[in-house]
Amino acid sequence: MNNIEIPIDRLTAELEELSRLSDAPAPAVTRVLYTKADLQARRFLKQLCLEAGLHVREDAIGNFFARWPGTDESLPAVGTGSHTDAIPHSGMYDGTVGVLGGLEALRALKASGFLPRRSIELLMFTSEEPTRFGIGCVGSRGLSGAITSDKLANLRDSEGQRLDDVRRGAGFSGDLATVVLPGDHYSAFVELHIEQGPILERENLPIGVVTAIAAPAALVVKLEGEGGHAGAVLMPVRKDALCAAAEIVLAVEAAARGTGSPDAVATTGVCNVHPGAINSVPSQVELRIDVRDISLAARDASVAAIRQSIAEVSTRRGVKALVETLSVDPPATMAPTVVTAIESACRRLALPFKSMVSRAYHDSLFMAHVFPTGMIFIPCRGGVSHRPDEYASPAAIEKGVKVLAEALRILAE
Ligand code: HGY
Ligand code: MN
Ligand code: MN
Repeated sequence: MNNIEIPIDRLTAELEELSRLSDAPAPAVTRVLYTKADLQARRFLKQLCLEAGLHVREDAIGNFFARWPGTDESLPAVGTGSHTDAIPHSGMYDGTVGVLGGLEALRALKASGFLPRRSIELLMFTSEEPTRFGIGCVGSRGLSGAITSDKLANLRDSEGQRLDDVRRGAGFSGDLATVVLPGDHYSAFVELHIEQGPILERENLPIGVVTAIAAPAALVVKLEGEGGHAGAVLMPVRKDALCAAAEIVLAVEAAARGTGSPDAVATTGVCNVHPGAINSVPSQVELRIDVRDISLAARDASVAAIRQSIAEVSTRRGVKALVETLSVDPPATMAPTVVTAIESACRRLALPFKSMVSRAYHDSLFMAHVFPTGMIFIPCRGGVSHRPDEYASPAAIEKGVKVLAEALRILAE
């Protein structure tokens, strides 16, 4: 018998309140690591968790933990959670459904009278998006030991500020070596997230059970040509960095399309032009490129093809090219024990579900390398995400939270 009640109006109101803690006009959300909006969101979440009677703590880079002690505290805990940071001009459901929905799952289990044997811990990872320091999942990389303390400390933002200095300015101190969790800290980790794709809505399904997460890679390309006067530098002698960049952007697209595989994607999401004046031939351009595939080998082949195109274009145009790898991560497979718990939860709730791969990456990508991990997807309108019109209905969120609560019960009892 399932006695989980979700007061969805309260959760909807909390999601809306969180969405207003933003550096963009509604309905867009911008919430970047260690900014005022980010710190406000953290205070909001902490208040809600304290009101729910959870024991809260933050680690040296701001990963947030809210713990519901189990009857046997000596056992590894069950974790759930996601992120509340948001890329510029994005939506209000990416990540937040897994944090506030995770809190709601714990509140609902408490209200049902359930007593977990294993402690259950809600996490808010300190920065899942790559916006500020160029790589995604800074918090979960730190927790899972996927990044050294030294590399973490010396990540730099676009103004050259070091993560170590910025975190201290935001009130997070302590030894970075204390961030990594012991390998037996969690017996299971489950993340609830919007699908960020069209499949569940198209097939009219309430739940997706994730089996694997695609392998992401990120490159930065710095191009240096020769600038000059837009009227005086004649075409035959130009070394226009932006024209080289334009060819490279199309080569990035061609590398993914050329595989013929629907699993290959590649995007040039950032293009910074210097000096950026209408009557000045661009002398420098910085491109940031995101390349993914379900298959590691296929992803690496796309990256190699892109690197080859960069070399060919830059040589032919006499433009210098410096290619740096920002991050190159393996895919992750979800743990059968956690997948089974999520599927059992769906059956208990008589909710149909579909196994699926996540093309977006999540903190679960890194948690899965250390702890048995699973993900629950809910549909989002039109599959839209990373846009202000991102939307998940209260009914969809309620079903996702119920499945999460039931899965946590199974994993923690
Ligand atoms: O880019 C991603 O896949 C995630 O939304 N940060
Ligand atoms: Mn995102
Ligand atoms: Mn996300």
